[in-house]
Amino acid sequence: MRPSAIVYTSGTGFTARYAALLSQAADLPAYDLREPEGPPSGSAVLYLGWLRAGSIVGLRRARSRYRVAAVCPVGMMEGDAAGLAKVTASNHLENTPHFYLRGGYAPEKLRGLSKVMMTPMKALLTRKAPATEADLAAQEALLHGADWVEPQQLEPVLNWLRAQ
Ligand SMILES: Cc1cc2nc3c(=O)[nH]c(=O)nc-3n(C[C@H](O)[C@H](O)[C@H](O)COP(=O)(O)O)c2cc1C
Repeated sequence: MRPSAIVYTSGTGFTARYAALLSQAADLPAYDLREPEGPPSGSAVLYLGWLRAGSIVGLRRARSRYRVAAVCPVGMMEGDAAGLAKVTASNHLENTPHFYLRGGYAPEKLRGLSKVMMTPMKALLTRKAPATEADLAAQEALLHGADWVEPQQLEPVLNWLRAQ
């Protein structure tokens, strides 16, 4: 099922940047799910959504409106097998091609519930001295933000699109 458009939801801009990069590389239009303008209902789309507490924001709504051919969850985790398996299971992606993209973290842009949700997480993760380089990097990201957006991360999803 070749998607005819990209649809995305972004809170602080990282997912929107991936959607724009993909739109250019794959020559597909990209639409913000929350905007009135979008592909006709029932269209096959590639959906990009940011991860919030393991859930891909907007995916349920995208599925109710479109045929979601593939999904790109965008998060701040490194994307190890265990983390990705949880994303697959909690978002019912077993039968949907999906490609994790590491986005970033922009604490200064968080508002409302997202900000409230991250406060205890930040306290928990920055309480102890970091034991490993990875812990240190995670703490740095939570305190000061991070940007991991790279066009190269799109290669697997671009290869999948070429094969459709
Ligand atoms: C409340 C909250 C919960 C989050 N939960 C997760 C998570 O479960 N897994 C993950 O990898 N990243 C998580 N993140 C990080 C975001 O997914 C990451 O910052 C993402 O790049 C945001 O994309 P956006 O700029 O398009 O909103 C969380 C961020 C916030 C604010």
